Amino acid sequence: MPTAKTIPLARHPYADGSFKQMLIGGGWVDAASGRRFESRNPATGELLATIAEGDAEDINRAVTAARKAFEGPWSKFKPYERQQLLLKLADLVEQHFDELSALDTLDMGAPISRTRGTRLRVLGMLRYYAGQATSIHGETIENSLPGEIFSYTLKEPVGVVGAIIPWNGPLGASIWKIGPVLATGCTVVLKPAEEAPLTPLRFGELALEAGVPAGVLNIVPGYGETAGAALAAHPDVDKVAFTGSHITGQSIIRASAGNLKRVSLELGGKSPDIVFADADIESAVPGAAMAVFANSGQICSAGTRLFVEQRVYDEFVDRVAHFGKGLRVGNGLDPETQIGPLVSEQQLERVTGYLSLGQQEGARAIAGGARLMEGPLAQGYFVPPTVFADVRDDMRIAKEEIFGPVLSAIPFKDLDDLVQRANATMFGLGSGVWTRDVSKAHRLAKAIRAGSVWVNCYQAMDPAVPFGGYKMSGYGRESGLQHVEEYLNVKAVWIKTG
Ligand code: NAI
Ligand code: MG
Repeated sequence: MPTAKTIPLARHPYADGSFKQMLIGGGWVDAASGRRFESRNPATGELLATIAEGDAEDINRAVTAARKAFEGPWSKFKPYERQQLLLKLADLVEQHFDELSALDTLDMGAPISRTRGTRLRVLGMLRYYAGQATSIHGETIENSLPGEIFSYTLKEPVGVVGAIIPWNGPLGASIWKIGPVLATGCTVVLKPAEEAPLTPLRFGELALEAGVPAGVLNIVPGYGETAGAALAAHPDVDKVAFTGSHITGQSIIRASAGNLKRVSLELGGKSPDIVFADADIESAVPGAAMAVFANSGQICSAGTRLFVEQRVYDEFVDRVAHFGKGLRVGNGLDPETQIGPLVSEQQLERVTGYLSLGQQEGARAIAGGARLMEGPLAQGYFVPPTVFADVRDDMRIAKEEIFGPVLSAIPFKDLDDLVQRANATMFGLGSGVWTRDVSKAHRLAKAIRAGSVWVNCYQAMDPAVPFGGYKMSGYGRESGLQHVEEYLNVKAVWIKTG
């Protein structure tokens, strides 16, 4: 397998400028409208592919195929057979991992070191769901009714799933949605993000190669307002699993009302990352920096609000700024790159808008602060790691999700006051605590209202450990035992034996 560095763009086996169709009912087809859209490399602007642009009609075709598959031979698959399918798929993804991670890098910009770095997690996820496939079970439950009447539960797949994913980690996001579908016996229509549809489509080819039956996995690329909205509203979709912004999440809930489909939402955040003076500063500096700069800040649980204990604030924030300035920004295909471009022009505008806003609000940019335009960087959407000091809780840069490499550093004095301030956000996804004091760590782990608390680390993830939000970061959990439950219905069965 050639490494990314030795794959010249034009020779990536998939991102070769060609036309990609959508996957419906086991076959690759054009959009009913015949429309196409482009996918470009955000580091260079180069055309990677043109893609069939799905809309409501294609979504309808895909949902019909998914329903047919749900009711067809797929429903007779034994857990062991679904497990074998997932294991086969995991093996194929493993064989093609370098190609898939390079594709993520090309399509959305993340450094190859990062996309390669997801290897264990991505393969671990598929194999974890494979394990889950043979672990699904109902219960026998003793009841108190008079006479002889026996009760038990069955767990049944919820049906046709609509999965809508963002662009910030297309391979991982695809697997996070498809793993539980295959484990439970559901079928799915996957709507990739318009910014980065290529890896999900390539993943679809591998799924067919693994033997996923026709119609079990359908992939309809297209825009959110058309294809995404049609999927969320479709009357024959039983559940929508969505990852993206809270604004879109709200529209998904409204769209789901028509048939009261189930919804799970992984939304955004404004996660607090808290550094105490007693922390191991040597590890907290890179830890807190990468909590927000990794993937150019395009991570839902990024630690964007850095609360630092007053007496070490200046020194700590300076060191984070220094660390940020030392990170190598560039084309993600270069193995030395640590910070890639933002995904799109729209995201660039959004993030640079916040850079100006922060300065207007009176924060001080002590690292970064403006788009990079030197040499080849001018062709892409590059924003350097940015540290805002002198941030107050009431500034918009301290409250709104920026989704860029932008840190807001805020001092604190008192622990009780800190808890209230850390929780004073509409979101509740991630959080970090850096301290050597075990009692502070436990106290905060309990007090912070968020789905994950990372102590002396950030962004640790594992297929067996649940991930998800409190408050407006959404509901439902991905990974962990609860994840497959979200794709299952519980049926109570009563049998009178007397
Ligand atoms: P988005 O939430 O609009 O897009 C995510 C997915 O939803 C995409 O597949 C999109 O096509 C689809 N979508 C959009 N509108 C839809 C609708 N009305 N019905 C159904 N599906 C729809 O996020 P976008 O526009 O890519 O980014 C905007 C902001 O959202 C970012 O700056 C960031 O703050 C946040 N975001 C958060 C993510 C997270 O992981 N929590 C991921 C992506 C974005
Ligand atoms: Mg959008």
